[in-house]
Amino acid sequence: MRTRRAALGIITGASLALTLAACGEESAAGSGSEGGTIGIAMPTQSSERWLTDGKSMVKDLEAKGYRTKLVYGDDDPQAQVTQIADLVRQRVDALIIAAIDNKSLTGVLQQAADADIPVISYDRLILGSKNVDYYVSFDNEQVGRQQALHIIDRLGLEDGKGPFTIELFAGSPDDNNTKYFYEGAMYLLQPYLDGRKLVVRSGETKLDKITTLRWDGTTAESRMKRILSTSYNGERVDAVLSPYDGISLGVLSALKSYGYGSGGKRLPIVTGQDAELASVRSIIAGEQSQTVYKDLRQLATVAANMADDILKGRTPRINNRRGYDNGVKPVPAYLLQPASVDKSNYSAVLAGYYTADELK
Ligand code: GAL
Repeated sequence: MRTRRAALGIITGASLALTLAACGEESAAGSGSEGGTIGIAMPTQSSERWLTDGKSMVKDLEAKGYRTKLVYGDDDPQAQVTQIADLVRQRVDALIIAAIDNKSLTGVLQQAADADIPVISYDRLILGSKNVDYYVSFDNEQVGRQQALHIIDRLGLEDGKGPFTIELFAGSPDDNNTKYFYEGAMYLLQPYLDGRKLVVRSGETKLDKITTLRWDGTTAESRMKRILSTSYNGERVDAVLSPYDGISLGVLSALKSYGYGSGGKRLPIVTGQDAELASVRSIIAGEQSQTVYKDLRQLATVAANMADDILKGRTPRINNRRGYDNGVKPVPAYLLQPASVDKSNYSAVLAGYYTADELK
């Protein structure tokens, strides 16, 4: 199918140029965009990371001579389905999609397949569809392990210290990454829970009890407040496993409203992910204690190269063939490695990602 598509590439690209000249919402690569048009569907603009992903992919693809159509779904699964259906109707040459709800895209991906449009699942694996050609992401289980390791190190659990209290937060239940982050973290934390060196006073440890719909910081803040008021009367919480910076900031805000971080009541260890600027600043200020840095510019480049390879009839580079099964088939994947960041290493790890001024 891909070979057939590659053979059709020039014709499709040429007819596209005509179609797109009429609709005028695409971002053009200046002059020669014979490569065709890539549709990029991202989940939300409310988080800095997805802005970086979108911007970086547009830049990389334009440098390769493609036009791009970048859309954001406002964290609304139905809106995203409509946006992708529009991109299919506009006959883009390939789709790069970070799903909002990983199970909501089966119908629209069938439309894409019927139009012979290859699909790259970006960062979040799309489930339940055979029409997902490739997956690009980070080693998501490793993300969870890095968060757990930070907690283990900072509490001195390997030296036998404890018991300590901890609360657990997970990501959105409709995001396939959520379970990888959770399982990665629990792989390392569970022995300490079993040995009562870590105690979850709320009792909420199972994934279905600790998810945070759409990764929403305010939802996490409310849950943390409820836990503090019902399970920590007079007790302190020593650590919070948070899977994502937006959740970490919500948790920190709840903690502060309960007096943590002032009057000698130290904040607990709070992990995170994405190295978003607000969280890196919080780490520098000694509030959030850790985040996981994923170089999104690199992820964007992998996705752009993959799209380019597919459309030129080359076999894209993958480094994981069977690890990511979407329920219908194992999706060939390329995974990048994340890096744990805290106050001791942020300036070295993030040099070049943020300017010194941004980190002030
Ligand atoms: C996940 C992603 C994380 C974080 C989160 C919230 O799918 O892997 O890095 O960005 O979504 O946006």
